[in-house]
Amino acid sequence: MSATSRLSPIIAPSLLAADFGRLREEVAAVERGGAHWLHLDVMDGHFVPNISFGALVLKALRPHTQLAFDVHLMIAPADPYLADFAKAGADHVSVHVEAGPHLHRSLQTIRDLGLKAGVAINPATPAESVRHVLDLVDIINVMTVNPGFGGQSFLDSQLSKIAELRRMITETGREIRIETDGGIDPASAPRALNAGADVLIAGSAIFGKPDYAAAIAALRASG
Ligand code: DX5
Ligand code: ZN
Repeated sequence: MSATSRLSPIIAPSLLAADFGRLREEVAAVERGGAHWLHLDVMDGHFVPNISFGALVLKALRPHTQLAFDVHLMIAPADPYLADFAKAGADHVSVHVEAGPHLHRSLQTIRDLGLKAGVAINPATPAESVRHVLDLVDIINVMTVNPGFGGQSFLDSQLSKIAELRRMITETGREIRIETDGGIDPASAPRALNAGADVLIAGSAIFGKPDYAAAIAALRASG
């Protein structure tokens, strides 16, 4: 994918870096600022060493925004909660390859709920781990930090994985988005996009800035 032919990337602010005392206003501000999706990081203190929020927070925000809810489940097990997230207003749900033994079943369940199905991959997990479920996947979330916390540095070691996944996707002929999640800012974003990502998830680089619209524009321009 050359830099010249590339379409402008999807920008998905990660709510994890927002002011939790003002969630509704924070979501409205990124929506006004030009975000395409809202990325929601659900953490259970078990699969990852941190706890964030669950389906109730999605449900509370759902009436207040048109943004697609891109839900990243860092929970194990995930299957018992998939219907709850669908009911709460998720549009896309991603489960981790590492979160359970039955990834294929989880992805089928997400599709049966009428949602876009995503799979997230930790930094140490190879691209090959998703090859045999690509027929069920709409989104691949390549973790470019260890999951659990915002504000970490982008892992350059993941660029070759993004490129490998892009080649695998091209072979399938299916339209599958590649998200890069963690440490994305205007310096790291072009590297991820050049490797083949087309969705930029960013927490600190948007909610940590005084002007969200300018921060989103800077990320979009980096593509
Ligand atoms: C980390 C989350 C990310 C995180 C990104 O576990 O999956 O979505 O919020 O935060 P930044 O952009 O600050 O690295
Ligand atoms: Zn995430």
